[in-house]
Amino acid sequence: MSNNMKTILTGIKCSGVPHVGNYLGSFQPAIEQANTGDAKSFFFLADFHALNQIKDPTELQRSVREIACAWLACGLDPKKTVFYKQSDVPEIFELTSILGNVTSKGLMNRAHSYKACVQKNVEAGLDPDDDVNIGLFTYPVLMAADILIMKTNFVPVGQDQKQHIEMATDIAKSFNAIYGNVLTIPKEIIRTDVAVIPGLDGRKMSKSYNNTIPLFCDSTELLKHIKRIPTDSSAPDAEKPADHLIFRLYKHFTNKDPDRKIGWGDAKQQLFVAMDTVIKPMRDKYNYLINNYSEVEKILTQGAIEARKMAKETITAVRKAIGA
Ligand code: TRP
Repeated sequence: MSNNMKTILTGIKCSGVPHVGNYLGSFQPAIEQANTGDAKSFFFLADFHALNQIKDPTELQRSVREIACAWLACGLDPKKTVFYKQSDVPEIFELTSILGNVTSKGLMNRAHSYKACVQKNVEAGLDPDDDVNIGLFTYPVLMAADILIMKTNFVPVGQDQKQHIEMATDIAKSFNAIYGNVLTIPKEIIRTDVAVIPGLDGRKMSKSYNNTIPLFCDSTELLKHIKRIPTDSSAPDAEKPADHLIFRLYKHFTNKDPDRKIGWGDAKQQLFVAMDTVIKPMRDKYNYLINNYSEVEKILTQGAIEARKMAKETITAVRKAIGA
């Protein structure tokens, strides 16, 4: 590997069941970039980031497994990408506790997700910090450590994570201003080419809206979800609007324009066939991996070994810089 090779890193929080929106908006573009680009790429499962939400160990493990298998089933190639679990790299947590000391509390006060919780509490007449834990408050510091430990140049993320990456950049600059040029300054790459994927109600597909289509449910379930998409009473041979959810999803999955002069029942069937054709081979691989999880564990163990090489380099330089 040449020294001027750029590093790309992205992480995914381990909560919730992987859905179609994750696939189109995140898994697919990220994997394509990693498999075809010439940067060194790191993908990791952010299991500690889920701790502020998930307190049940079985649920956390299930989520890590499902998300790990989903990435691999969607085509992540562990030969081209270092794929690891955050909690297997203890240097990240060491760096987190150091970075906390160069991060101003005011910066954390401005984080969108923290502010949203406070606002909700205030509106409900509760104490502003009701049910807010320090894990949520310092979430951006842990995220900065994830990024900075691997000397990341670029972080491809959706718009919702933009502020977090900017905070990581600010934190790195604060550290360097005190201790010299130790940390690599990261930059976000916001994917503007991927559209917002609509959910069953037309809003952005998101587990917080409860409008998702699970990516790896079986065909019967998939059809059931598609049948739940609301339609109107227009005649079967009337041309339906291209921006209807059914046709938008069709286009995302096939890159083709669907037949729109058909009845809604047929349109749903058409969408189902399109989606099932793309998803089936991935679903088979996913089911195989879930049932043979030791294969996935091997990949993650190998990934953690690779990741720790880089992490140790960074933490050694950081410790030296601070005088530890
Ligand atoms: N916060 C991100 C999310 O909710 C996950 C994440 C954790 C991440 N650490 C990261 C993303 C570092 C990019 C880089 O999806």
